[in-house]
Amino acid sequence: ILSALGARSLVLVGMMGVGKSTIGRRLAARLRLPFVDADTEIEAAAGMPIPEIFERHGEPHFRDGEARVIARLLDGGPLVLATGGGAFMREETRGRIAAKAVSIWLKADHDVIMRRVRRRADRPLLRTADPEGTVTRLLTEREPVYRNADLTIASRDVPHDKIVEETIETL
Ligand code: S3P
Repeated sequence: ILSALGARSLVLVGMMGVGKSTIGRRLAARLRLPFVDADTEIEAAAGMPIPEIFERHGEPHFRDGEARVIARLLDGGPLVLATGGGAFMREETRGRIAAKAVSIWLKADHDVIMRRVRRRADRPLLRTADPEGTVTRLLTEREPVYRNADLTIASRDVPHDKIVEETIETL
């Protein structure tokens, strides 16, 4: 697999809560590649957690930083990179990913996403009166774009390792 990938990275895209970080970390261990979570890198670069970046500087500022961090990480590759759910929506970022990596959309349905994000309060986009409606709207906006990823893997309620194996077989 590694030789088939050449020097390319693997980039996980998809909605919040689909398991990009957990699956990415295990995938990286299996492939003996470094794993990086873009959200964690952004927080380190900004010196504050993501909700605080949104509060203090706004979403557009976060998105610019996110695009820069992802570009830098891809230049340093090869690695397995988990991206935040909105990152792939930027055309320039999709172009950079296409040039340097194989992209994998971890696809999950609305119910799975709702169940998983309910457990975590650190998603500023879901701090609204109607998180369900927000997830529905984001899925409608984003699925047509996520669909442009090189591979699609269904992330559902099975052990993460099963999804890792499936991904490796698909590569
Ligand atoms: C976002 C997803 C988050 C984080 C930020 C915005 C999004 O990452 O980047 O809260 O726009 O979907 P995860 O997908 O890792 O939760």
